[in-house]
Formats: sequence, structure tokens, C-alpha cells
Amino acid sequence: MKVLVIGSGGREHAIAWKLSQSKNVTKLFIAPGNPGTAQVGENVLIPAEDIAALKSFALREKIDLTVVGPEVPLTLGIVDIFTEAGLKAFGPSKKAAEIEGSKAFSKDLMQRHKIPTAFYKKFDSAEHARTYIETHNPPFVVKADGLAAGKGVIICQTKDEAYAAIDLMMKEKAFGSAGSKIVIEEFLKGEEASFLAITDGKTVLPLAPAQDHKAIFDGDKGPNTGGMGTYSPAPIVTPELAEEVMAKVMIPTVKAMEAEGRPYKGVLYAGLMIDKGIPKVLEFNCRFGDPETQPILMRLESDLLEALMASVDGTLDKIKLSWTEKAAVCVVMASAGYPGDYVKGDAIAGLEEAAKLKDVVVFHAGTALKEGRVVTSGGRVLGVTALGSGIKDAIDNAYNAVSRISWKGAYFRKDIGQKALKD
Ligand code: AMP
Ligand code: GLY
Repeated sequence: MKVLVIGSGGREHAIAWKLSQSKNVTKLFIAPGNPGTAQVGENVLIPAEDIAALKSFALREKIDLTVVGPEVPLTLGIVDIFTEAGLKAFGPSKKAAEIEGSKAFSKDLMQRHKIPTAFYKKFDSAEHARTYIETHNPPFVVKADGLAAGKGVIICQTKDEAYAAIDLMMKEKAFGSAGSKIVIEEFLKGEEASFLAITDGKTVLPLAPAQDHKAIFDGDKGPNTGGMGTYSPAPIVTPELAEEVMAKVMIPTVKAMEAEGRPYKGVLYAGLMIDKGIPKVLEFNCRFGDPETQPILMRLESDLLEALMASVDGTLDKIKLSWTEKAAVCVVMASAGYPGDYVKGDAIAGLEEAAKLKDVVVFHAGTALKEGRVVTSGGRVLGVTALGSGIKDAIDNAYNAVSRISWKGAYFRKDIGQKALKD
């Protein structure tokens, strides 16, 4: 089968890496990909958001399955456009992707269907939002309605911080039209976990739970990023809790989307806050997580192509996924300055040495080739991922690999996975 993966991050490298091991994949393209994906398939220089060019390519190459990594093409309707053209594409339709594309829609959906989440109000006027803040007590969580590359959520400890967040989103338009509507939410305490499932709209197949580290500095300090590291399994998600998440969140959400005329296919990713064993939904994403996908797919023993195809074909009830008992840890190496401004173009040393280590895969994200050398070209540069007999062993293996890799100003958190050892 000819397969096209869309995207260029660490998540897409992990998806392409796993698909390249499938016996039924005869040819693998990645658009636009990165130097890492070029090791497992053929990169095609089409941006992930140029849907017309991607469609022409897929038709010309007679692609059997397209796997869409990032949320933007999904919310632009790539799956609808491919399906109309007779092409198979893994992921939700435009209407279903709104579960991530609009926080107001997803909060309303959860409220209508009694899916546990934080109390909230939505606003399309800054004045009304300010009045709400005046008459309530902090902390508040202020969220831009639309897509803001993971930056549209501001946790406000004081009323003044909340006024500033409202102004930033609605007056200064820091996130463009994504902030013309906002949601103000109750602040939830607890520990976060990422719960992902593949669905065909009927069967919901959970993936191994994972835990992300969103903040830039050790001890979860500093501004949020796209994710600085992950581990799987997540001990906080016990088998009992996983069952509860399936029964109270994942299955009801897939049913709710069907009932509302937005049948959901693809990956449904629930960002959860767990407090005293009770899960509440922080947000839904309509895609694989980045960097959750890196450790999750390293632990997957089954054929990924079969599962993705079964989601598209509506035959997921025939699929069973098996996982290694081993744990996996992904440490993100980033450019100095990320998530703020950073420089690009620094040569990366030690990639080959790290890749030779047993049970280690160095997934590329923000890298590029310059005069035959791999250089930095983004904020999150690499996702150094390792298996181990348990989380502790996987941490040691991942950091051992990290220690072999260097460039000017490489930054990474030193405490990825430590949280799991405390549980
Ligand atoms: P989201 O994009 O909605 O997942 O929010 C990004 C991050 O903000 C989450 O991963 C949490 O760390 C934090 N967050 C979002 N909503 C809340 C909330 N209601 N209470 C506490 N933290 C939150
Ligand atoms: N790691 C967070 C996300 O993929 O949204």
C-alpha cells in the first residue's frame, strides 16, 4: 500500500517510523517531513496546509491511505476534501475536528452530554468577560476559542491577570481571530494525563496512556510549550481509571458527536486533569499528541497501518492492539529561548552515536539539512525516546542518549518522568 503522512514534527516522524515497519506499506511519503522522516520514507515538499496540492499529489501517486498529523489541515477539512475525491484519509471531518478547533463548541458539547469538565462561561464581548471577572473569585483560566498552537490558554491567579488576558486576546488580538471569542473556566487542581483513542465512530480503541510535561522549566515552572517530554505508561492512569475514562469520557463523546451529526473518526485525544482519582476533561484534540505519540508508538507492538485503515473503513471492532510491558520516555531537546524567540541553523552533533544505542530512537521535529549536515530549524528540535524495563530505566536510557547529542544552546528539561516515580 502507498501511504502519505502529512506534517513535519516529531509526531509525524514517529507515525512514519512505525508505519515503515508495516509489512503492507510498499511506499511511504511524508509531506513536507523533516530529515528524520527522510530516513524512513520519501519527503515531498508540499506544506501540510496546502490541501489542493496534497490532493493532486495523492491522486497522481494513487495513495491508498493518507494520515493527517496536525490539527490545522483537519480543521480546514482535508479529510472531507480527500474523501470527496475518492481518497482514503485517516482523521476527523471538518465538522468533527471542531472538537479541537473551537473550545466553545467542545465545552458546550461536554455540558450538553454531561461529560465531566471544568465549569465555564463563554464570551464574545470583552466588556461582558470583564464583568464576569469583577463578580467572581480567582484563579481563572482564560482560553481563546480557536486554534493558537497551544498558547491560547492563560492561567490567571489574580483579577488583574485575567483582565490582561482578556485584553490580550480580545483587544490586542494576540491570537488573531482565534481570540474573538473566549472561554473563562474554573481552575482545576490535580495531575494531568493524555488519554488517546482511535475510533471509527463506533468502536473506541484506547491507546496506552501517556503524560506530558507542558512547562518549559524543571518542576513544571515557566510558560507552557507544545510539550517538553512524555512518558508511557502513566501510573496515574490505573486500569480502573482507564475504564472510567472510557465509560465517562471517550465513549460518550464519540456517541455525542454521532448524535449531533458530526460522526467522529480518527484519534480522539482527551487532555485530562485527575484529582483524587476523578478525571475531568481540560480539552479535546482531534489528532495524535506531540510528544505523546513518540513513546506511545514505541510501545505499540501491533501494526499501525491496520488500525488506521480500520478507522477509515469502519472495521475497528476487528482490531486488537498489543503493547510491550516496557516503559518509554521521550525527552524533547529544544533551541535556547523556546517557547520565545530562538536562533536556527546550528549544526547538531552526536545524532548517529545516539541512534546506535539499543532501544533508542531520535525523532526529529525542528531540524533541516544544510550542506549535508542536520541543523536546528525550530523550537522543539528532537524527541529523544527510549524504552526501558520500567520508567526509571527508560529515563536513564533516554538521558544517556541525550548526553551524546549537542549543539550551541541545546536546552532540555532534566526531570522528565520523575513525576511517575513519585506516584
Ligand atoms: P488546553 O490547551 O486547554 O489543554 O490547556 C493547556 C494547559 O493549560 C493544560 O494542559 C493545563 O496545564 C492548563 N489548563 C487548561 N485548562 C485548565 C483548567 N481548567 N484548570 C487548570 N489548568 C488548566
Ligand atoms: N502534547 C500536547 C499536544 O499534543 O497537544
